[in-house]
Amino acid sequence: MRRALCRLEDLEDPGSAVFVIDDPSGRRAMFVVRRGGDVFGYLNNCPHNGSPLDWRSGQFLDLDRRFIQCATHGARFRIDDGFCLGGPCAGKSLTPVPLRLTDGLVCLDEF
Ligand code: FES
Repeated sequence: MRRALCRLEDLEDPGSAVFVIDDPSGRRAMFVVRRGGDVFGYLNNCPHNGSPLDWRSGQFLDLDRRFIQCATHGARFRIDDGFCLGGPCAGKSLTPVPLRLTDGLVCLDEF
């Protein structure tokens, strides 16, 4: 399955956005982080207790926009691989959602 979520240029750099997707296991919230020409996708569930991570709808980055930061208890995750560097779920990782850039569109890859 491949589905376009948005245009790369519609995302701030660095910045993030939230989406709801349908897959064989049902409807799920996920988010995209843009950094330069790269995009990274994860399910919007904190590994700590499953809460959504965003501060406001679509806002997932810390003040410096260097890390993903959970709004509930402050865990910080690397943008590149979703690994938690500090907080109550340190050492765990966000669940990746594979993305592909195609003609300037951010698309879901096989999922
Ligand atoms: S729910 Fe994310 S750090 Fe607790």
